[in-house]
Amino acid sequence: MKYTLEQLFAYSKQYGFIFQGSEIYGGLANTWDFGPLGVSLKNNIKKIWWEEFVSKNKYNVGIDSSILLNPKTWEATGHVSGFKDPLMDCKVCKARHRADNLIARATNNEVDADGWDYQQMHDYIIENKIKCPNCGGFDYTPIREFNLMFKTQQGVTTESTSDIYLRPETAQGIFLNFKNVLRTSRKKLPFGIGQIGKSFRNEITPGNFIFRVREFEQMELEFFCKPGTEFEWFDYWKQFAADFLTNIGIKSENVKFYDHLKEKLSFYSNATTDVLYRYPWGFDELWGIASRTNYDLSRHQEYSGQKLEYQDPQTNESYLPYVIEPSLGVERLFLAVLIDSLEEEQINETETRTLLRIDKRLAPIKVSVFPLVKKYHSAKAEEVYELLLTDFEVSYDDTGNIGKRYRRADAIGTPYCVTIDQQTLEDNTVTVRERDSMEQVRLSLSKLNEYLNKELKK
Ligand code: GAP
Repeated sequence: MKYTLEQLFAYSKQYGFIFQGSEIYGGLANTWDFGPLGVSLKNNIKKIWWEEFVSKNKYNVGIDSSILLNPKTWEATGHVSGFKDPLMDCKVCKARHRADNLIARATNNEVDADGWDYQQMHDYIIENKIKCPNCGGFDYTPIREFNLMFKTQQGVTTESTSDIYLRPETAQGIFLNFKNVLRTSRKKLPFGIGQIGKSFRNEITPGNFIFRVREFEQMELEFFCKPGTEFEWFDYWKQFAADFLTNIGIKSENVKFYDHLKEKLSFYSNATTDVLYRYPWGFDELWGIASRTNYDLSRHQEYSGQKLEYQDPQTNESYLPYVIEPSLGVERLFLAVLIDSLEEEQINETETRTLLRIDKRLAPIKVSVFPLVKKYHSAKAEEVYELLLTDFEVSYDDTGNIGKRYRRADAIGTPYCVTIDQQTLEDNTVTVRERDSMEQVRLSLSKLNEYLNKELKK
């Protein structure tokens, strides 16, 4: 069964993965809060990315830079002048639209207005009588430029405050620290710097649940290499990204590459691929992989006046490295993981179960502990719970009958359930039930942690 976005939201809310932001005040549009299971899944996603791209990767090191950067950063990169979307308001219902999106939507993505000037977009919308998708009206304001960066002020008095931006990508904090990291890590080219952190964009059309939001997290790697070797490394990181998704259990039929046409590339890029995932509304961007040449370093070198070149220890040649950037949104991967893992499984002729068949490393809770009968078995079950807490993310559940507790554990993807029953009180053994096969084994308590540790690593 394929879940709709509405069903995914209802599921997320029911079990405590994601809640509407500021709900008790009527919400704040397009903001989402991650509940107990959501934060755990999110942390597990970030942990695996960090291991694969940073801590267990022979090429790369990590960084955690500030969200607020010197505003010159964004002048240098072109974000102040160029990080803009073409905005149009419907005069009838006041809905805001991106002009290029109006065209794409009306033509079923057959006409791509990316790269058109605003007059061209305006004329196309008028000539083709493209109506407001919200109200059906056909009365628009002219197209205006809208900068996507959130502006705020730094300083305490009106005289001393200065405009500053919340970063729209984590990447630039990496470029600003290129020399610091190079010096202190003693890395030689090729090497990369990875970072996970919040980014902010005042998107005109946020939506599709957590797919496009204004506050989100990115997991970015800037990989520095010698000019001339960039295509080799571009292919390497493309494959690495695809393998990463397969490794965490994302089905390959739900993933494909979209290679940007040469003539449509951003001016600083000589190759870009989007890794697309099959979301409920169709394939859409999960992960961007770009070969960014030496654009960022050269602009920061120019605007800061600091030398950012790399001196090749073998040839003594100095040059600005080229960069390959795989950039992935945590929320987009979170959504893809949910969509890919959630299923309604027929378990016999009459019964089905909701099952989150998620990779065990990502499961928000690894083990659930159940006393079979609360009155008799909860004291021992609490003991087992404490024992397991030393090693795993564990939950304790004594509400409702045991069948319902198993169903709940399946629905949130808990790989193992441990049940304490009468026999446990007699011989210190427990039953361990595995999520996917529903098979049960009986084990001595003294072997429980070791057994689960081994099984969870499989
Ligand atoms: N440093 C390059 C960069 O930021 P991007 O294609 O604008 O490139 C990279 O963003 C990734 O960040 C996207 O592929 C997506 O996963 C995530 N992302 C971008 N905007 C987002 C938004 N508004 N909401 C959620 N995720 C977003």
